[in-house]
Amino acid sequence: MKILVVGSGGREHAIVHALSRSPQQPELLCAPGNPGIRGLARQVAGSMEVDEIVAVSQAEGVDLVVVGPEAPLVAGLVDALGAVGIAAFGPSAAAARLEGSKTFAKEIMIAAGVPTAGHAVVTTVDEGLAAITGYPAVVKFDGLAAGKGVVIAQSEAEAREALSAMLEEQVFGPGGVFVEDFLDGPEVSLLALCDGERALALAPARDFKRALDGDEGPNTGGMGAFSPVPDVDPERLAELSAVVHQPIVDELARRGTPFHGVLYAGLMLTSAGPKVLEYNTRFGDPETQVVLPRLTSDLADLMLRASKPGGLAGAALEVDPRPAVTVVLASRGYPASASKGDEITGVETAGAAADTIVFHAGTQGGEDDDSGPLATAGGRVLAVTALGNTLSAARDAAYTGVSAIAFDGQQHRSDIAAAAAE
Ligand code: AMP
Ligand code: GLY
Repeated sequence: MKILVVGSGGREHAIVHALSRSPQQPELLCAPGNPGIRGLARQVAGSMEVDEIVAVSQAEGVDLVVVGPEAPLVAGLVDALGAVGIAAFGPSAAAARLEGSKTFAKEIMIAAGVPTAGHAVVTTVDEGLAAITGYPAVVKFDGLAAGKGVVIAQSEAEAREALSAMLEEQVFGPGGVFVEDFLDGPEVSLLALCDGERALALAPARDFKRALDGDEGPNTGGMGAFSPVPDVDPERLAELSAVVHQPIVDELARRGTPFHGVLYAGLMLTSAGPKVLEYNTRFGDPETQVVLPRLTSDLADLMLRASKPGGLAGAALEVDPRPAVTVVLASRGYPASASKGDEITGVETAGAAADTIVFHAGTQGGEDDDSGPLATAGGRVLAVTALGNTLSAARDAAYTGVSAIAFDGQQHRSDIAAAAAE
């Protein structure tokens, strides 16, 4: 079996790593990959452009294309591959709108009866202020906003400022705006493999989105994660999945745009029950770096089955009971900027420890590359994952790995999974 993985981040390294453990020993290809991925998969394309991926998949006779990031999904890569008869793991562009459009996601959630925060679409500042029932309140922009499209307003003045920036000054350009009730409680990332008809929940994870310890500082792509989550035992996982995954799969099937791939529900466990904050239509980063190392089932088989209508019938997931923790090492300036070209040492030492894996994200160079020694090439540089008999042991092992790695400007959070491990 020949599998092409599209993407270049830590998430895609974790996917390639899991596929490399498949008993089917698939031949692995990547586009474009990164130095860690290219140690396990042969690079066949330098970009994620739809035309290039389709052409190379045909030329290579690929059996399955696994699409990591959202951009190629929204651009219709899965549709284009389907048109030439190549199986793909990921949703069509129509189904990926669930992530691409916050208002579409709300429409589907309401139609499917999924619990979510109350919201109102607004077109003027006054309308927005009138729709807010209390503070804090949430103001959201529906469109590309570089992670700045969600404002938690603590007062009317802050809400007015956010509404005015989005609606009148149009700081993010044109796009819809809505106000939403503020939700409080622990957040959980629940990912499920979907085959257009059913959802098979993966292990629950918790992500740390803020840059600094104690959930301070700006939002990032994610600075660490752990799995499983103490609030969500296997029974609760099945209950939650029946509420947040299956109704969405059913609703999209009913509309003629069946969902294949990973459905990621970001939810808040509020005192009034679980409520969905958002859906993503792909694996989470860095959640994947803890969820997939715990999966002992054959990922290649599951992904191929998920690409076919109803293909997951009878499938069950086997999960290593040991917890996993991942800690992201970021470069100087992240998330506002990223520094590049700082030499990285200690990756081999960290990865040599038992049950420790170093996933590459923003790296360049290294031993399989003639562009020089391994160095930084982005904001999130590496993610160090470790499994342990307890969450506390996994956490200690991950931080032992982190301490072996050095590069100029390196920054990481020191409290990933700390509260849950206590
Ligand atoms: P998003 O860009 O939708 O992923 O939101 C970013 C973060 O904002 C989420 O991870 C939450 O921590 C927070 N957030 C979004 N919506 C709400 C809400 N309705 N209530 C409380 N926090 C929220
Ligand atoms: N870790 C959050 C995300 O992947 O969107």
